[in-house]
Amino acid sequence: MSDRKKNIILTGFMGSGKTTVGIRLSYRLRQQLVDTDRLIEKEEGRSISEIFAGQGEEGFRRMETAALKSLLETEGEQIISTGGGLPMREENRMLLKELGTVVFLRVSAETVYERLKGDDTRPLLQKENPMEEIRRLLEIRNPVYQAAADITVDVDGKDFEEIIGEIAGIVGGEKETADENTCD
Ligand code: S3P
Repeated sequence: MSDRKKNIILTGFMGSGKTTVGIRLSYRLRQQLVDTDRLIEKEEGRSISEIFAGQGEEGFRRMETAALKSLLETEGEQIISTGGGLPMREENRMLLKELGTVVFLRVSAETVYERLKGDDTRPLLQKENPMEEIRRLLEIRNPVYQAAADITVDVDGKDFEEIIGEIAGIVGGEKETADENTCD
């Protein structure tokens, strides 16, 4: 895979911590962070909830694919945080592989529920029984996240520093060393 890029891509379910991990990792590795949800919202001038209401989930999924394609055209290495459903499309999984190293943040249904209860920005969880929906989706999605990932990191019970350390240790080590060497 000679033309594979060197971005770090964070995948995982809603509430797995992709955004927070992305921000911290971007400081640590001194790389820019881009979030596919924010990219789409900026492009569309609307929130994710408005996009789901107007164009449905399928419309949103097409926008995710377009966002990945635009990132393939971007120069330089970045941290890319993705929407939780993005790897479910086969085309997107191929694009992720081309974009760089795919990190799956694996989380339990209980942690997701605790983190997202009361949140009204995730259209897919606006259900009478969100816990049931979280479990149902995790069962479908976890094997797909796993298969699409180069690295899996369990996030339950860990603080963010620990998670960042694990990821940076595997994928960012070389860059950190190189930066340290050029600082003095
Ligand atoms: C979705 C996850 C959301 C967002 C949209 C759909 C999903 O992103 O893309 O609401 O299908 O799991 P986060 O994972 O950042 O919450």
